[in-house]
Amino acid sequence: MASPRSGAAAGTSISVRGLGLSFDAQAVLSDIDLEVPGGTTLALLGPSGCGKSTLLKLLAGLQQPGAGSIRFGDQLVADAQTCVAPERRGLGMVFQDYALWPHMTVAGNVSFPLEMGGVAKSEREHRVAAALARVGLGHVSKRRISALSGGQQQRVALARAIVAEPRILLFDEPLSNLDRDLRVSLCREIGDLLAQLGTTAVYVTHDRDEAETLAHQVVTMQQGRVVRAMQRSGNQYNETL
Ligand SMILES: Nc1ncnc2c1ncn2[C@@H]1O[C@H](COP(=O)(O)OP(=O)(O)OP(=O)(O)O)[C@@H](O)[C@H]1O
Ligand SMILES: [Mg+2]
Repeated sequence: MASPRSGAAAGTSISVRGLGLSFDAQAVLSDIDLEVPGGTTLALLGPSGCGKSTLLKLLAGLQQPGAGSIRFGDQLVADAQTCVAPERRGLGMVFQDYALWPHMTVAGNVSFPLEMGGVAKSEREHRVAAALARVGLGHVSKRRISALSGGQQQRVALARAIVAEPRILLFDEPLSNLDRDLRVSLCREIGDLLAQLGTTAVYVTHDRDEAETLAHQVVTMQQGRVVRAMQRSGNQYNETL
């Protein structure tokens, strides 16, 4: 098991208070409270349809809450009146389906967020090489995405998520498309990477083992509500809700 980080200062804290969202008068999220200290990882577990991805979208700024608030550090990023745009939230995201551009090279995909951010070419090349080295893909930077395995593609997505040095990383079932052995090893690698970077992270998964490999807190949702919260203490988790 990868050892979760000490929780030291590096990342930005996330504070979610009384968060709620309805679609067509149907509550999808109700009264969600979460506190993620800077530099720690919170895993979200729960059955299909319980609202995990919707909560992640609210954190990302892809949707706006109907009630409650989200703060990153001291900054209010979302409430019923406020919605800071996703590109202004300092986020990196990794999804189940990789969301890579298949016709572009590995380096081209990883470089994209830096190009959007107006980073100069020489600096981009340096940072792309460093991000690919971190995920063990320095040797395939010129390959096309379509020539990579699923595990390699997810490593590219990881490199793209970290290349702009985000303050928060969001993961939505990043390993669900991979076979069991690869899931276990890549999950450990992600844990180690988060430990090195000290980035705050929210990690959605169906897999309790994955959650417990990575997370300082494991929160279980059901029907849009938090029903259980566990906090890591040494090698075990204590129930806090
Ligand atoms: N744009 C939308 N309009 C209407 N309903 C939506 C919308 N997005 C999500 N929902 C509903 O919100 C609920 C929660 O969906 P969500 O995708 O967050 O679940 P999930 O926990 O991520 O599930 P899974 O584990 O299958 O990915 C579901 O009932 C879904 O149908
Ligand atoms: Mg989902």
